[in-house]
Amino acid sequence: MSLQTRGSDPADNGVIHVKRNGARISVRLNRKKSETRSPLNDLYNVNLKKYDLHPNYEFPEKIRGLIPEGTPPYIQGDHDYVKQMIRALYYFKQCALIGPSGTGKTHIAYLVAELTGLPMYEVNCGLQTSSYDLIGRYIGLGKENWIDGPLVSWLRNGGLMYLDEANMMKQDVATRLNPVLDTRGHMVITEKDGEIVKRHKFGYVIITMNPFSSEFAGTKPMNAAFRRRMSVWIGFDYPSVGDRILPEEAQLITKKGVDENTAFEILRVGAEMRRQYKEGDLPYGPSLGDLMHWAVLISDGLDPLAAAEETIIALTSDSVEVQGDVRRIIESVFKSD
Ligand SMILES: Nc1ncnc2c1ncn2[C@@H]1O[C@H](COP(=O)(O)OP(=O)(O)OP(=O)(O)O)[C@@H](O)[C@H]1O
Ligand SMILES: [Mg+2]
Repeated sequence: MSLQTRGSDPADNGVIHVKRNGARISVRLNRKKSETRSPLNDLYNVNLKKYDLHPNYEFPEKIRGLIPEGTPPYIQGDHDYVKQMIRALYYFKQCALIGPSGTGKTHIAYLVAELTGLPMYEVNCGLQTSSYDLIGRYIGLGKENWIDGPLVSWLRNGGLMYLDEANMMKQDVATRLNPVLDTRGHMVITEKDGEIVKRHKFGYVIITMNPFSSEFAGTKPMNAAFRRRMSVWIGFDYPSVGDRILPEEAQLITKKGVDENTAFEILRVGAEMRRQYKEGDLPYGPSLGDLMHWAVLISDGLDPLAAAEETIIALTSDSVEVQGDVRRIIESVFKSD
């Protein structure tokens, strides 16, 4: 078991991740939801009164600390992802997000939990994720001390179950989720003498995944039973791609201390890399987070190319040829003015 904190990632701010056999369980300690309305409410076009996900119900004090706070703004561009997700949760209790790495799926899941006031349970699925990681286990000798896994805690208490990279899960583990994902769901805990746990009335699920392909190592085609249980699938894309440059995205890059002109250059490089990645010409498209890391080093005084060597060039690939391709994109953008 390993314990890691990733305070530097805005999507994870202040979360402690406990990793066990590939399953990442995130716990937000000692954080109380403030009584005031989240300032994020005003930024997104959602009628939270209409789509109230827990009408007249406060989650128990012991899990209220799991409601995210301070999630940074999410750039939606021409899309209405936040509203689509909240509406899907309202009508169907669950939805799936699908899109390439770095398009902000994890970020938006936190944002939606914060906006709607849902305690968040996160499991990062992997090939090693076992049913014990999700459901729970006895600890010590004998059958005295049972510890609920995140899935069972969520079934009992409600909130948002966030299954990240759900198509990396082994088939037999995914199958255990099928009865839970029927909206009247329940789970028979065979690991614990067949206890039946019903899904809480205000228990919602978001699953995220990268599209199944050889480039996302470990992803598998999703089994049909699991697929069918997700009524709404939302496809995610980067805010800026190719010639489509979103000023809001550049604006967020300037927050890292670079001037506006440099922020646009960084973004133009990023958008071109994303375009090439989507066409299959590069192995990776940089996320906004990646571009911000590049900006941090530039604002610390490094020359843009030197800063890129340590960040997006190295990040994209170990291959010398691919790194050369990225370098050429950077040079063409930074020399063109
Ligand atoms: N539209 C956006 N608005 C604001 N920040 C964004 C946006 N998209 C991505 N980011 C930032 O980019 C980084 C990567 O995003 P995130 O981890 O949410 O992507 P993801 O889609 O979950 O990727 P993966 O599939 O690899 O898990 C984060 O730092 C996130 O805050
Ligand atoms: Mg993610």
